[in-house]
Formats: sequence, structure tokens, C-alpha cells
Amino acid sequence: MQLGASMTVLLAGVLLMLTANVVESVPLTKRTPQFVTLPLKRMVPVGGLHPQIYLQQQINRGVRRLARMTGRAGPSDAELVANLERRVLAIEGPEGLERRYNRMGVPSSRDEGTVLEKRFNRQGVPRRNQQRGIQSLKKGKGGRNGNGGNAGNGNAGAAGSATSAATPVNDVTFANAPTDSNSLGLDIESQDEGYLATIQMGTPPRDFLILMDSGSSDFWVGGENCQTVSTTSAADNVDNCGAHNFLGTASSSSFVDSGKVFNVTYGTGQVGGTIITDDVTIANLTLPAHTFGAASTESIDFSGSATPFDGLMGLAQQGLSQQGVPTPVESLFQANLIPAQITSFKISRLADNLNDGEVTFGGLDTSKFDSTTLATVDNVNTEGFWEGAIDSVSLNGADLGLSGRTAILDTGTTLMVLPAADAQTILSGVDGAQSDGQGGFVVPCDTTASLALTFGGQEFTIEPTDFAIQPVGGAAANNLCTCGITSGDIGGATEWLVGDVFLKNAYFSVDESKNTISLAKLV
Ligand SMILES: *[C@@H]1O[C@H](CO)[C@@H](O)[C@H](O)[C@H]1NC(C)=O
Ligand SMILES: *[C@@H]1O[C@H](CO)[C@@H](O)[C@H](O)[C@H]1NC(C)=O
Repeated sequence: MQLGASMTVLLAGVLLMLTANVVESVPLTKRTPQFVTLPLKRMVPVGGLHPQIYLQQQINRGVRRLARMTGRAGPSDAELVANLERRVLAIEGPEGLERRYNRMGVPSSRDEGTVLEKRFNRQGVPRRNQQRGIQSLKKGKGGRNGNGGNAGNGNAGAAGSATSAATPVNDVTFANAPTDSNSLGLDIESQDEGYLATIQMGTPPRDFLILMDSGSSDFWVGGENCQTVSTTSAADNVDNCGAHNFLGTASSSSFVDSGKVFNVTYGTGQVGGTIITDDVTIANLTLPAHTFGAASTESIDFSGSATPFDGLMGLAQQGLSQQGVPTPVESLFQANLIPAQITSFKISRLADNLNDGEVTFGGLDTSKFDSTTLATVDNVNTEGFWEGAIDSVSLNGADLGLSGRTAILDTGTTLMVLPAADAQTILSGVDGAQSDGQGGFVVPCDTTASLALTFGGQEFTIEPTDFAIQPVGGAAANNLCTCGITSGDIGGATEWLVGDVFLKNAYFSVDESKNTISLAKLV
């Protein structure tokens, strides 16, 4: 979620043609890139979406999210839409924009934020009127996670569109059974876009697929009365929240609505509703009458049928909670259901095909990491995010001299978003790297660049496969991949937003009682 500047990514002037053909992009080094002609990675459109539009979605979300996290003015909706429009224009030409405007029946005005909102959902996937594709996906995977759910969630029957090699729109890759107690499998949304787990709510208990987000502190699920609400035009409101599971009095006899209103705004997207109590079961641990949110309004980022999750669980600290209630982890601890206020993550990489993602409550799953490499640092964030000091940053073993940096570690952000100067420092040391002029970078797909961050004296290296994410597409750009490092000058010169691009390379654990963050090398 990377629901997610100011430089906002705009480098004046250069924009319109840059992305169409990265050969025209701005070289970062004077070195001649050693292009090989064979692309090492298959071009993988994300839900049928051009990788560059997908990238821009991720940059927008990350940058917005970082701005929100650091309490700074982020880019406006109009700026974000303009960024996206430039990509569309570069890739599809003017027709790409015209088509959209004509279909919406709105004039091509730059500040009409709903235009692209309507066309692209949170994943950057073109919207369609779909049936409940997610349901058949779930069933196709059979037993689900072994996460201790209520009986009946293993209704394996339905045939597996999920096993198809094609990337379905509602693409979720379900994790294997967890390898420790008090744990849930962490399912992969799309191509490492986000991480989801199945929990149970209500009476009788039913399964809900929930985004697990270390970068926020509110917990909500769509309510039975949920409506899609556009942030920009009431005319765009829709009287349902898409193909999701909902909670309310019709489906749960233990659901009690306090009537107290809450609203949560994310980097992109927002939800509102009422504070309710209902039974919640997380990894076999039941919180009777837990207090959280049932959304009666969701923006399309969440309500769209292509968004696979039904709700979101914030796993940062209560201080950030816009609902002003304890987080599930805090409540599990208070109820003596877990021995410590610890949440631990094994973020898995789709390409590894191991499906070993896991979130553990109350401890660390020692089978997932090398305990001799465990580094623990203080949380330096006073608001409730998880932010640790980076000792040093190195590229190919050479220290880059970037000292005094901190990293907000966020499972809900896909990419890494750095101040432009820091991104430039890193990328200028990578052969063949180029800026796309909009906050993104491209690097040769076969780059061997080895970027490492050191926390607590322990060095964590980002795999090249996370550094060079996916081919940008286009014949002239066959060997260029979008880079997991992006830039967004939202005002903090030393504060990085470090998402899954990095977190796939470490075991990540947070302890709210001690206010510490631990990282360890994966086994
Ligand atoms: C949940 O409980 C069931 C039944 O006691 C058990 O088989 C399963 O392993 C438990 N799951 C977890 C994640 O602890
Ligand atoms: C807050 O949420 C309520 C309930 O969903 C909604 O009616 C209201 O418009 C929201 N307010 C804002 C500012 O989004």
C-alpha cells in the first residue's frame, strides 16, 4: 500500500518524451552501458498494465505515503494524475488520454483526479466490471494456509484458475502453512505488491483476506453497507464496494456498532465508517468483541473488485491510530494471548516460488533466519512508525558516504523512496542506470549492482532481482528494467521509505514494548 514527494518527481521540461523510449532518457553516468541483446527477464505486464504505468503508480503511492508519514506536504492529486498521464501519453500516445476522457464524458482537464482513478485501481490494473474472481482464486488454492481458520475454508473444490500460469487480475499467491505457532501465512498480492493474511471475524466466524501493513495503525474491514466514494466527484459514487467479503449484523450475530465515526487516509485511498466490536481470530488467537472499524465508505483503491483484500491491519503503534483504539497486536498482548508485543515478518518473493511468507505474533520464527545475524536497533520514530538508523550504505562493497540516514520500514510499500540526491548518489554508481525524469530509474536487467544497507552493525544486501524489477518493455528497451529504488523529495533530506524491495532480503521484527526493530539474514 504503498498506498502511496515533492519534487514530486517532476523535473521540469524534459517529461513528455522521456518515457516513451528510455534510450532518450537521461544518462546518469558517462560510462557506456554494456548492453546485451538478450533480455534476461520476461516482460511481465502487471494485470495487463504496462510496467511503466505500474511503476508510476508505485512511485505515486510511495511518495504520497512518505509525505503523510513525515507530516509534510505531499504532491497534490493533480500532480500525481499528471505524472501518470505523462506515462500514458508516452506509451499510448494522445489517444490513450482521449479515449479515457471521452468514455468518462469529461473534458481533458488536468485536475480531474477521478479520470485515472476510474481507469486504474490500486494495482494500476485497468478496471473492469468483474465477477467475484477472488473467490474462485481462493477456492482454487484449496486449503488456504493452514492458518487455523474456521472449518469450511478449505472448500477446495473449485477448479483452479489460480494454477494458471497467466497473471489473473485478482492475483494472489497463497502462502504455505506457517512454520511457527501464532503465525499466519503471508500471501503475495500481485507481483510482490503487498502482503496479505487470512483471519476470521464475526459469528459464525468467516474468513477475511487482510493487508498486513507495518506502516499504519488502523484495522478495518468493509462493512455490509459499504459504498465506493470518489474523493473528487460525488457523481462517481457507486453503491457497493466491489467483490469483497463484508462484516455486519446480517452476517455476524456478535457485530455491535458503536456509531462512532472514523476516517483513515492513506497515501492513496481512504476509508471511513464506524467503530464496531466483533470477535476476531488471528492465527487461532481469539479476541472476543475486539474494537475496530467497519468501513461504510471506501475509495476505489480499496473497493475496486481487482483489489484482492477485504480490509487492512495496521501493525505499527497505537499513536498513529486514527481510530484511537489499540491495535490487534496490542490487544492480543493485553489479553495475555501472546507473550510480547512483537510482530515479525518473513516477506516472500514471488519469483522464488517458495510461498514461505509469514507473519508471527508475539515472537520471532527462528526457523526463518540466521540467529547469529540478528541486529536490533532503537525505533527512532516518535509517532509510531517503525524507523531505524542506517549505519551505512554501500554499493558493490564501496561505502557511499551516506551517513545519518534513517529508514521507515514499511511492508505496505512496494518500492524504496529516497530523497533525490541519495537516489542519484546510488544510481550514478550503477552501470547503465538512467533517470526517467519522473522519480523512477531504469537499470540494465542483468545488472549485478549490489546495494547494501547496514543496520545495527549487520549488512543486508538487496538482491539484484529486487533492484532491477521488471523490463520496461518496448523493443528499444529490451534490456532495461525498472529499478526498485525511486526518488521523491518530500522534504526530509535523510529519511528513506524502505518497502518490500528491501524487506524481501531480511527477516523483520518489531517490538512495541521495547520500541526496537530487529533485522536478520534469511536462511
Ligand atoms: C490452530 O489450531 C488447530 C487446531 O487446534 C491446529 O491444527 C493448527 O495448527 C493451529 N494453527 C496455528 C497457526 O497455530
Ligand atoms: C468519514 O467517514 C464517513 C463514514 O464513512 C463519511 O460519511 C465521511 O464522508 C468521511 N469523511 C471524510 C472527510 O472523508
